[in-house]
Amino acid sequence: MKVKSIRGFRDILPEEIKRWHFIEEKCRKIFEKYGFSEIRIPILEQTDIYTSGLGDTSDIVSKEMYTFEDRDGTSITLRPEGTAGVVRSFIENSMGKKSPVNKLYYSGMMFRHERPQKGRYRGFNQMGAECFGSESAYCDADIISMLWSIFSELELNNHVKLEINSIGTSEDRAKFREELVNYFEPQKDNLCDDCKRKLDTNPLRILDCKVETCLTTIGKAPSILDFLSIDSKNHFEKIKFLLEKIDIPFTVNPKIVRGLDYYTDTVFELTTDKLGSQNAVGAGGRYDVLVKQLGGPDTPAVGFAIGLERLILLHEQVFPEEYRQNVDIYVASLGEKALNEGIYISNILRKQGLNVEYGFDKKSFKSQLKRANKINAKYTIIIGEDELDRNVFKLRNMKLSEEKEYSLDEIENFINLIS
Ligand code: HAM
Repeated sequence: MKVKSIRGFRDILPEEIKRWHFIEEKCRKIFEKYGFSEIRIPILEQTDIYTSGLGDTSDIVSKEMYTFEDRDGTSITLRPEGTAGVVRSFIENSMGKKSPVNKLYYSGMMFRHERPQKGRYRGFNQMGAECFGSESAYCDADIISMLWSIFSELELNNHVKLEINSIGTSEDRAKFREELVNYFEPQKDNLCDDCKRKLDTNPLRILDCKVETCLTTIGKAPSILDFLSIDSKNHFEKIKFLLEKIDIPFTVNPKIVRGLDYYTDTVFELTTDKLGSQNAVGAGGRYDVLVKQLGGPDTPAVGFAIGLERLILLHEQVFPEEYRQNVDIYVASLGEKALNEGIYISNILRKQGLNVEYGFDKKSFKSQLKRANKINAKYTIIIGEDELDRNVFKLRNMKLSEEKEYSLDEIENFINLIS
């Protein structure tokens, strides 16, 4: 039997993980700076929350979900995204009754049966945030500002572009949909097969088709912005005003419609030109009817999610230097007695807060020093039989290649020797 991971699923290996930790930590800090608390929701949910929440005609529901029967016959689905699950938890835990505004963030693996390619996986990680209870444009602007801060804090803001749009209310979209069908129907032959199908099922999605031959026709299509009601228009104008006020660069792209049906009014995407076709690193928007649609109280909400694999790919391109595990001390000992001392010393140093690797393999000092170099240890402690007899240890500064001897009694204060 040849073991192999499932197509579209990948491991995050030890040599990659430091960059992941660095980025996840930065995101957490920003979420908390904006007053968001973490929520952990299950990976499996009842299928209904996705079919009724995300929309039957969305790509996710129609062809990408990992859905199967539980042992009792219930249909369950591996979460393809985080919003619907967070909304389910918001409703189930009556969060709206406990607090008028709830700000939640999450991190974890999502599952979509898409065609895998660079930046697009079947199992991928998102970090996202959802804010419940406010319909104000100030809330939209604050959320967009939080997304932007993550990229600024990571010094990636020069490599991403923020695009915003408003898709209005469902009434606005109904009028626009009619207009779109009138526009596309006579030119149907210029559209790809996928768009032809969308003309019947979800004409708005034609607008974000990327197929070259469709682009000219799409370019001249009517704009949703001409169909917005007064309230939606004012809401959008206010967001633009606020983003300008807080110096967040954006462009309005009336072609952004998003692939999930729950959005109302504000939608936005953060894209980069550094990742090829999978260029969206984060996206989100307002969804004022989803909570009610899933059986909860009428609650406005807005949020976004960042694709962590894509964020990491972008970060690696901009900052190619390796992110390494921080090893302070390598303890090299040789001979039974010295090895016994080595494990003892290692534990004392760990209690002093240091990251310590202990060479327990009875290898020569030469190969232990090689290992210390490889893992980038700052110092190596060397103890052989000779050092033990004299009650000393050698401390090698790996960068300067300098060695000094100290009494073994000084191990109790070791941290002061190197600080
Ligand atoms: P989404 O646009 O479907 O939105 O996904 C958000 C981000 O997840 C994308 O911009 C992308 O970076 C990443 N992503 C999506 N699919 C894949 C994939 N197959 N492989 C790698 N990365 C991927 C949502 O999921 C919404 N729940 C966002 C949201 C939250 N809206 C409101 N609140």
